[in-house]
Amino acid sequence: MSRFITFEGTEGCGKSTQLRLLADHLSRQGLQVCVTREPGGCPISDAIRQILLDPSSAGMDSKTELFLYAAARAQHLADVVRPALERGEVVLCDRFSDATVAYQGYGRGLDIEQIEHLNREATDGLVPDLTLLLDLPLETGLARAISRNSDSSEDEGRFEQEALAFHQRVRDGYLTLARSHDRFRVVPADGDIDEVATRIRHAVAPWLGVTA
Ligand code: TMP
Repeated sequence: MSRFITFEGTEGCGKSTQLRLLADHLSRQGLQVCVTREPGGCPISDAIRQILLDPSSAGMDSKTELFLYAAARAQHLADVVRPALERGEVVLCDRFSDATVAYQGYGRGLDIEQIEHLNREATDGLVPDLTLLLDLPLETGLARAISRNSDSSEDEGRFEQEALAFHQRVRDGYLTLARSHDRFRVVPADGDIDEVATRIRHAVAPWLGVTA
């Protein structure tokens, strides 16, 4: 039973933690689960991730950034997502095409139709079956993300240093996407980890036909 589920949200919304918890829950019920992320997920796309998130890339042109996300996505699909779906697995992916619409489109102001066109090219039209948008007030998420970065050896601080207004546009953009696509479920991401995990299980389990 292959299914493609993506997790989206602004910085510090907790989606990576929640994705792992859902993966454990589904594995315990006997499903084959593939956990992956964008940008990254395979060696070539991980190398592109490093370029994108390196603070020394701060002067990167928005279009360069857009094409690098699309390039990383094309490789990730070929190497990881499609093979896992062909094996009948449930793929849980930390960010996907909607992130490009939210960040490069609504956030940076690039043309949304062009981004959607590029996404279709990069994915050969593959769209998630279900997208969980973990939604959180901006201040809470950024505070979490900043404290996580100061503890982390991986230098991913570039995006989180962006202006608050940018992140507000990204959040609003995600909520606009959620209103226009039935595959979205908006999950409030405030509260403790277990509460959010329960909300996610209740959104996903009936849809997958497993216990919440
Ligand atoms: P992460 O925080 O989920 O690891 O994602 C890394 C950053 O990459 C995050 O700031 C969002 C950004 N991003 C985009 O700007 N466009 C994209 O298409 C993707 C997948 C991520």
